[in-house]
Amino acid sequence: MLKSVRQFFQSILLHINDNDLKFCEQYLTINEYALFLKFSGFEKVHAVRTARKMQKIIHRDSGVDERMMVRAALLHDIGRISGNISLFDKVWLKLVKYLMRPVYNRLAEKGRHPESGHRKFYIHKYHGEAAGDFLKRAGTDAAIIDVIARHAQKPKNTDSKELKLLRVADRTS
Ligand SMILES: [Fe+2]
Ligand SMILES: [Fe+2]
Repeated sequence: MLKSVRQFFQSILLHINDNDLKFCEQYLTINEYALFLKFSGFEKVHAVRTARKMQKIIHRDSGVDERMMVRAALLHDIGRISGNISLFDKVWLKLVKYLMRPVYNRLAEKGRHPESGHRKFYIHKYHGEAAGDFLKRAGTDAAIIDVIARHAQKPKNTDSKELKLLRVADRTS
């Protein structure tokens, strides 16, 4: 929850600048960059912070592909663009999630249908999986799509090093 409060204030106070956009252009393909631009302002800030954090936590000898992981960090929440989730939505969805988990889960399942009135719940919970359609169309590598699809799921012992890194960068950005 502390992470959410920090991210809330960051999203009000921080803005994306030209350097950040250049950074994104260096890593993303044209199609991916077009997707990135569909993020609302606060999601762009979070994506860039996560990607820069990723650069810091990757050690050269960890055997992880730095370029792939920075791209995964920039795009990890791209599934959210389909839910039109505003900063205000993000706050109340998080509150429902933490205070009424069974209700949150039930409404997320009800929101599976694209026309559902509970779509925001579905996209909030399953934004990792929802990213797949956009990223496949953009031609993104399967390994990146896979790590993004799993990032918001419950951690498992069998999770890859890449997935663990993405969760750390996400949590601390
Ligand atoms: Fe996420
Ligand atoms: Fe995130």
